[in-house]
Amino acid sequence: MCGIVGAIAERNVVPILLEGLRRLEYRGYDSAGVATLDDARHLQRVRAVGKVQALAEQLAEQPIAGRLGIAHTRWATHGAPSVRNAHPHVSGNEVALVHNGIIENYKELRAELTELGYVFESETDTEVVAHLIAHQLEREGDLLAAVQSAVARLIGAFSLGVICRREPGRLVAARQGSPLVIGIGIGEHFIASDVFALLPVTQSFVFLEEGDIADISRSGFTIFDHSGRAVQRPQAVSAQSAGVADKGPYRHYMLKEIFEQPTVIADTLEGRIHDGRLLESCFGVGASALLDQVRQVHIVACGTSYHAGLVARYWLEELGVPASVEVASEYRYRDPVIAPGTLFVSISQSGETADTLAALRGAKARGCLGSLAICNVPESSLVRESGLVLMTRAGREIGVASTKAFTTQLVALRLLSIALGRRHALTLEREQLLVSELTALPAQVEAALALNKDIERLAEAFADKHHALFLGRGTQYAVAMEGALKLKEISYIHAEAYAAGELKHGPLALVDPTMPVLCVLPDNALQEKVVSNLQEVRARGGELFLFADAGLDVHFEGSGVHLLRVGPVSDSIAPVVFTVPLQLLAYHVAVLKGTDVDQPRNLAKSVTVE
Ligand code: G6P
Repeated sequence: MCGIVGAIAERNVVPILLEGLRRLEYRGYDSAGVATLDDARHLQRVRAVGKVQALAEQLAEQPIAGRLGIAHTRWATHGAPSVRNAHPHVSGNEVALVHNGIIENYKELRAELTELGYVFESETDTEVVAHLIAHQLEREGDLLAAVQSAVARLIGAFSLGVICRREPGRLVAARQGSPLVIGIGIGEHFIASDVFALLPVTQSFVFLEEGDIADISRSGFTIFDHSGRAVQRPQAVSAQSAGVADKGPYRHYMLKEIFEQPTVIADTLEGRIHDGRLLESCFGVGASALLDQVRQVHIVACGTSYHAGLVARYWLEELGVPASVEVASEYRYRDPVIAPGTLFVSISQSGETADTLAALRGAKARGCLGSLAICNVPESSLVRESGLVLMTRAGREIGVASTKAFTTQLVALRLLSIALGRRHALTLEREQLLVSELTALPAQVEAALALNKDIERLAEAFADKHHALFLGRGTQYAVAMEGALKLKEISYIHAEAYAAGELKHGPLALVDPTMPVLCVLPDNALQEKVVSNLQEVRARGGELFLFADAGLDVHFEGSGVHLLRVGPVSDSIAPVVFTVPLQLLAYHVAVLKGTDVDQPRNLAKSVTVE
């Protein structure tokens, strides 16, 4: 999703801005641009459609420089990806700005500004803000005041970085619903939508809070809250290393991240279990007292993280803990009944997903007992706004399609289910068994990765298909959903997951020799029922791809059945292990199809707009 970088320094900031944009590439975008105020006080702007590399090439032909500048990667919302719609947007030669998020009342403002004589060059909601600030600047003669007045008129979730021709020593930034951070240098300051963009130039950051507007110069900055009062925000030092993760021997980040899973799963367990038992201190100070009061759990997330939540519901309910799971974009606009004793659990790789954040804020406003974030980014908004935190330790995930973040989320959720299960139906013996199975997980995932070559061969059967059905039951239904999502995200093959028991209620009508049907079949109480469901597929000539536990005795007559043996794996960790071959399948199909595996079209890694 859109990325912002800005800088005010004594040196030319263009290389800093460009490097910042490169570091934000993983978020997903379709065009990029940069604007500077040069030493002759001219606003200069270069924009390009496509990758940051295209912008870099454009800049090589048409170099610009300046000690004050802003830059942006755009993920199109209003108006197609084009140079005209790319940021920075300008108003005359006076104001340039970059914007993340959505301005909901842009139509009214556009009509009003058009009436005042402003001419629009793009279809974006952003350009409205540039003209509005320019208009206020005319009236108030001060950039900060102009931004404050303009922001007061904007409805929506956004962050902004603004510069103007007449104030070469000023960069103004605003945050309302979309993340923005100030990076502190020596005699220079920066802004970005993600600390990672700025790590080559600083490790010290101040996170803007909702409604904050920052007035930034080379030597310092002042932050004003939504009421215009000057406020202090805490300074944080990032523990992240500046190094951009490299792909090592792998062709894509996604493959590298799939193969990192044994390590990051072990990291996520590290220090959290001892002597065959879970250490509750991993949830933070005071967690045990809060967990004692939990009567039910609301799990809320988006995309892949939502699938992790779906698995967790089975785990929690099995241990007697009432749990509901919902996508954040629905939860936030329902009127969820938050009964006494409700723990709100958010799951998010980035910790910046707009809907998940809004759902958390809504649940807090409705008086949930407490909130727990399961997240991979320590400095994220979700972590900062949640009472309890259980970090996944997946390391930076670059591939847009989430892999290691998902499996570490499952590990974290398994720990949560043990913590809450203890207070319900979980016995000491069973806890010890679950913990020992968790400890075996890195080796089990390693074994699943050894299937890579077999899966690469299987992928050939999918590369020319337009549709695929994924089936599973119980926790594996959620695993099938995640497998189908991976395939559609990166190979663009239409894939849908069904609970295998639902097959005969509709999707069976789709089954013919051109529709591959993939089923995940662990060794558990539901396996016989799944096998019966699969007979229905075979009877209709469907080509079957069965990922079955190695301990199961399954046979299907005739051709058209591809059997991949996984494990044997105990049921409590099977969702993690069975996910791995599905990730590999999606990866190899995408490679065969020649898609952009790490940055699939139209998708974003961090979805900071609703
Ligand atoms: C985007 C990403 C997905 C991710 C989802 C939720 O759609 O492409 O990979 O699952 O957002 O993101 P989160 O950061 O909240 O887990």
